[in-house]
Amino acid sequence: MKKGQFPDGFLWGAATAAHQVEGGNTNDWTEWEKKNAERLAREAEKKFGHLPIWNDIKTQAQDPQNYISGRACDHYNRYEEDFNIAQSLGHNAHRFSIEWSRIEPREGEFDEKEIEHYKKVITSLRACGIEPFVTLWHWPIPIWLKDKGGWRSGKVVEYFDRYTEKVALALKDDVKFWITLNEPLVYSAHSYLKGAWPPQKKNPFHFILVIRNLMRAHRLSYGTIKKINPVAQIGISAHNVYLEAYKNKFINRLLKGMTDWLWNFLFFDLIKKYQDFIGLNNYHHNRINFGFNKNDNERISDMGWELYPEALYHTLVGIKKYNKPVYVTENGLADREDKYREWFIKENLKSVARAIDEGVDVRGYLYWSLLDNFEWDKWFWPRFGLVEIDYNTMERKIRPSARTYAEICKTNSLILDSNP
Ligand code: FCB
Repeated sequence: MKKGQFPDGFLWGAATAAHQVEGGNTNDWTEWEKKNAERLAREAEKKFGHLPIWNDIKTQAQDPQNYISGRACDHYNRYEEDFNIAQSLGHNAHRFSIEWSRIEPREGEFDEKEIEHYKKVITSLRACGIEPFVTLWHWPIPIWLKDKGGWRSGKVVEYFDRYTEKVALALKDDVKFWITLNEPLVYSAHSYLKGAWPPQKKNPFHFILVIRNLMRAHRLSYGTIKKINPVAQIGISAHNVYLEAYKNKFINRLLKGMTDWLWNFLFFDLIKKYQDFIGLNNYHHNRINFGFNKNDNERISDMGWELYPEALYHTLVGIKKYNKPVYVTENGLADREDKYREWFIKENLKSVARAIDEGVDVRGYLYWSLLDNFEWDKWFWPRFGLVEIDYNTMERKIRPSARTYAEICKTNSLILDSNP
């Protein structure tokens, strides 16, 4: 790579997910929010009280009403405005997800109006010169499927395939990049190992069953999309973590090897023959010390996550062995004051540039997220957006860091020097 210059045709943009931005959804997650809002508000201090921003967020974090996704960013109605902003910021790619519960609100009944809606979303992106990356499943599921056992159900693989076919047939001429599943392991672990997310079933056997079903669902829908559009590019987005063995001690190396295999590579190995590209999400670094985390945490985000942009370089190099094009489909931080975002993006892009120089075929970078949004069980206080949302007025405000990122996108090159 010529100094700071990214390869021609590199895709630049940001990502969102339906449940986090659209508003007005009815799915297993919205039901769960209503049932768990009181509890989440009660537990807020225990979970987040240690964060430096606790004083700023505590009133909201302790109010049950705030754990309801509700109208979120009203992106369902304001997508055109949002894509115009993305265009003005020089984005030429955008990742978003289709909400299964809208497309198939009752088992086997497909809502043509909602399919039309997503067609319009894609038309609007294309009109802005933005390449869509369509995620088919970014965690919530329709309520009828939840009632049948969700991802544990014996028929979920067929159901997912039927939904995939419906969507792929409708959008086949307009979409090149498909992401079947978002972070299958993060979802399975939070929902079935930790029991923290819906359906809150803590059971290792269910965890394994769900992973198996997700893997089968991906393989099947890969074939279905390919049949419908042989030139479609299909992958998943996985949440890889840079694991490091503290002081290179034997036990730490052993733990690192095991965790790497399980968390970073197993799913990719299982779907190796069924993917055209790798979607990489990266947020974390974990310096393993006898099973504990020994990170320096010199700089942290509002959520307390360590900011360690080198992690992206290492996770990219880690997946080089698959010999596939790579798109960074998520990378970002919660930073309500926009203190570190510019630095964070630039440093992460240095990591991408370094990986490209070492032969990793990285072809795009999608920052998480275009908009502030509903962060699952943590409500709206984590502010990941390039664009700030005023949740009372729904006003959109471009953050300063988004303008620096825009320069990078527009010039396809990295402006160096990025101290905060
Ligand atoms: C990822 C999720 C995404 C968002 C970011 C912060 O794991 O895929 O929806 O919540 O974390």
